Amino acid sequence: MLLKASSIETILSDNEVNIIVLKSIDSTNHYFKTEDFKKLSAGKKIHCCFSEEQTQGRGRLNRSWHSPFGQNIYLSCYYPLKKSMSELSGLSLVVGLAIVSALKSLGLTHHIRVKWPNDVLCHQKKMAGILIDIMDKHDDFCSVILGIGLNVNMMPEDIDSSPDSITQSWTSLREEFGIEFDRNHVAAVLLQKVLTYVRDFDQEGLSVFLKEWSAVDFLKGQEVTLQYQNSVSMMGEAMGINSNGHLLLRLPDGNVQAFSSGEASLKKKK
Ligand code: BTN
Repeated sequence: MLLKASSIETILSDNEVNIIVLKSIDSTNHYFKTEDFKKLSAGKKIHCCFSEEQTQGRGRLNRSWHSPFGQNIYLSCYYPLKKSMSELSGLSLVVGLAIVSALKSLGLTHHIRVKWPNDVLCHQKKMAGILIDIMDKHDDFCSVILGIGLNVNMMPEDIDSSPDSITQSWTSLREEFGIEFDRNHVAAVLLQKVLTYVRDFDQEGLSVFLKEWSAVDFLKGQEVTLQYQNSVSMMGEAMGINSNGHLLLRLPDGNVQAFSSGEASLKKKK
C-alpha cells in the first residue's frame, strides 16, 4: 500500500504538524528549499515530507541513499528550534535515539544500536541513517531539516549492482522479521517518536538523553579508527560521548580527546 497523509495523521496524536506525501522527488531534504514549500509560508510550524521514492537521495559525506519506490521511508521534517547554531550539536544523536525507540515500539527489541554520529544498526547492519541540513540561522532560533531514511520492506533482490548502489552492509525491517510492514503505520510511529524526542531536545538539551545513548552505543568500549578532517585518522578506544555529543576516544598515550565529527569504524582484529 502507498503512503497516505490521512492514514499517517490518524495514527499520529500530534496534529500540529503538516504532512506532505509525494510520489517522487530528488530528495525530501531538498523539498524544503523549493518554491512549492516556500508558498506554504512555513513560519513556526513543523512540516513533514514523505516521498515514495527519491531520485537523488543523499547520505552523509556526499554518499547517495538508495531510495526505490514504495519500499522504505524517506522522511524530512522542517523543524523550527528555539536554539542557536552552537546548541545544535547532539541533535542528530537524539534523532537516532528516536528511531531506536520507534523500532522498539515496532517490536525490534534486540541488537539495535546507534553508531556515532548518526547511524542506526541492527545486527551490525545499517537500518537507518540521518542527514541534517540547517535552513535558517538566527541568534535565538534555527530552522533545521531532519532527513531520515529507514529501510522497511527493501530486500536484497531490490538492489541493483550499479556502482552507486548500496556499499555498506544493510538490513530492513522485513529482512529482520520476515514479514512485510505497513509503511503508513511505521511512518506514524517513527514521526511520533521524532517529534517527541526533538521537542524534548529543544526544551532540555542533550543531557537528558546521555543515559539512553550509553545503553545502545555501538562503539563504546571498542577499538576504533576515526577518520576526520581531510582524512586524518586517529585510533583509540571509544569512551562514549560528552555533553556536547562529541565522541570521546582514549588515545594510545592514555589521553581522552573529544571529536565533534568524523567517520568511525571498528579496528580490525588481528
Ligand atoms: C546517511 O546515513 O548517510 C544519511 C542518510 C539519510 C537519508 C535520508 S532519506 C530522507 C532524506 N532525504 C535525503 O536525500 N536524505 C535523507
